[in-house]
Amino acid sequence: MCEIRTQRLILRPFTVADEATVLSIHSIYDVIRWLSNPPWVPMETLAQAEEWIDRTHERHAVDPHQRTLAIEVAEIGTVVGAVNVTRLHRLDGGFVGEYETGWHLHPDAAGRGYATEAARAMIASAFDGGLDELTIGMWPDNEPSAALARRLGAEELGVDDDPWYGGQTLLFRISPPHL
Ligand SMILES: CC(C)(COP(=O)(O)OP(=O)(O)OC[C@H]1O[C@@H](n2cnc3c(N)ncnc32)[C@H](O)[C@@H]1OP(=O)(O)O)[C@@H](O)C(=O)NCCC(=O)NCCS
Repeated sequence: MCEIRTQRLILRPFTVADEATVLSIHSIYDVIRWLSNPPWVPMETLAQAEEWIDRTHERHAVDPHQRTLAIEVAEIGTVVGAVNVTRLHRLDGGFVGEYETGWHLHPDAAGRGYATEAARAMIASAFDGGLDELTIGMWPDNEPSAALARRLGAEELGVDDDPWYGGQTLLFRISPPHL
């Protein structure tokens, strides 16, 4: 997984040295409750953080388009969140070529534009790597994430049934002309 540099950030693979930070971010209910289907269970141990980091590397090994990168603020060397590209698997029939991008920050790092800066660079890198479209799905009431997708210039498709996770989702898609 290659590193990506932006004006303020280093986007790089997570390592074992990030375990405590991964635990600190994923132990916060108000972060993880937006990332998956319920039940939302905050992370509790360093062993779980290690497993989370290992899974990011396993996904990349299965499919190099899949990347989960730490968002490190270059000036202070602190990891404040994660940005990712992952394969989407349809509930009714496996993988049909769709990938999603997503992001999350420690709340202390919000409001500074870090997630937008990271997502823009990650998406550009994914397009450079051969993907031609990314889906962005979120709970319909996830206003901060929707605002971020709009800042990126993603095309808003509205709220619909979620073919990958079930339930309802607010969907965006982004392709190179929109970035
Ligand atoms: C989604 C999430 C990453 C958005 O975080 P965020 O801080 O709003 O997004 P950014 O880091 O891009 O920061 C943008 C904000 O910083 C402000 N900002 C301050 N300095 C800035 C700068 N130098 N450059 C750009 N923006 C800056 C922007 O104006 C914007 O503020 P606003 O929302 O008041 O308009 C965050 O809410 C989160 O982690 N949520 C929980 C997990 C989650 O929902 N993930 C998505 C699942 S679909």
